[in-house]
Amino acid sequence: MKTRITELFGIEYPIICGGMLWLAVPELCAAISNAGGLGNITACNYDSGEDLRAAIQQTRQLTSKPIGVNITLMPSMRFTEEIYDDFFKVCAEEKIEVIEVSGKPAIKYLDMLHKAGVKVMHKVGAVRHAKNIERFGYDAVIAAGIEEGGHPLNDDVTTMVLLPRIVESVNIPVISTGGIVDGRSLAAALSLGAEGVLMATRFIATKECAVHPNIWQELIDRQENDTTLICKSVGLQGRALKNDLTRQVLEIEEKGADLGQIIPLLSGQKSKQAWVEGDVNAAALMVGQSIGLIKEVTTCAELIQSMVKDAEAILTEKLACFK
Ligand SMILES: Cc1cc2nc3c(=O)[nH]c(=O)nc-3n(C[C@H](O)[C@H](O)[C@H](O)COP(=O)(O)O)c2cc1C
Repeated sequence: MKTRITELFGIEYPIICGGMLWLAVPELCAAISNAGGLGNITACNYDSGEDLRAAIQQTRQLTSKPIGVNITLMPSMRFTEEIYDDFFKVCAEEKIEVIEVSGKPAIKYLDMLHKAGVKVMHKVGAVRHAKNIERFGYDAVIAAGIEEGGHPLNDDVTTMVLLPRIVESVNIPVISTGGIVDGRSLAAALSLGAEGVLMATRFIATKECAVHPNIWQELIDRQENDTTLICKSVGLQGRALKNDLTRQVLEIEEKGADLGQIIPLLSGQKSKQAWVEGDVNAAALMVGQSIGLIKEVTTCAELIQSMVKDAEAILTEKLACFK
């Protein structure tokens, strides 16, 4: 496959893994990159720039293909400005091929990153933000629909509408995310003008993702209406699996709880533990509506190969119906 994204990032297929706190680690990243996509190491898994450097070097031992790093610039009690500075500096020094930024724009780092040959993309949920990202000099923009796991923008616009709106509004390449899982969604995203897709939830259901088998079973069993938006009332909405914990958060939000009262329920350590121990009710497990489309656990290579093959077949068939 050839799009501006495959050319820009030096990858075989325009299939990218998004940031996944606790899950996007060297082994999964390398498996995705080795399969021809772009793997991801999520910087916020690590406490310092040097820990991130060690993870990057570990990944380089596992793959010679391009890799990506996610840096999430959201209000945080764990990270200081200095640590964020170090994350970006380490990525430039280690010549990471691509950085995915989310949250606050990384304007002050762009020059340093570009001088080091790093390509930078930013995840947005609105046309106005996509236009800013282009103006700041980013290389690509990710259009993230409300379906996505993680923290969709509270504009609440779906991938189906947001993607073509952003495509018609900027000239830099657009990557689609939120609800992408298979060849059908890859074909749809390409048809709507995307030059690549980014997925996270679907990559959890791969053999190389180090989660407990209970999590895989839960992703297969649950349907598209089994996620919920928590923390909307405090302006920090996040999409997670409906479970005991998210019900508890919604209950206290209903009673007017503030962020200080909600945060203890959302401890990062609890989710880290829940992913590996498989207690699906113990923490807020960030997943997208795409869980409704997850039917099996595959290797990353099987997933990427089937997506490309199916998308090609679909797009060729559709062309045939105009003859
Ligand atoms: C378990 C999980 C953790 C995530 N953590 C982050 C994160 O740390 N930073 C970030 O920018 N996005 C994060 N996201 C959002 C994804 O990178 C991506 O934008 C989104 O999940 C795409 O939609 P999908 O879930 O339908 O594939 C996370 C998503 C999941 C499923």
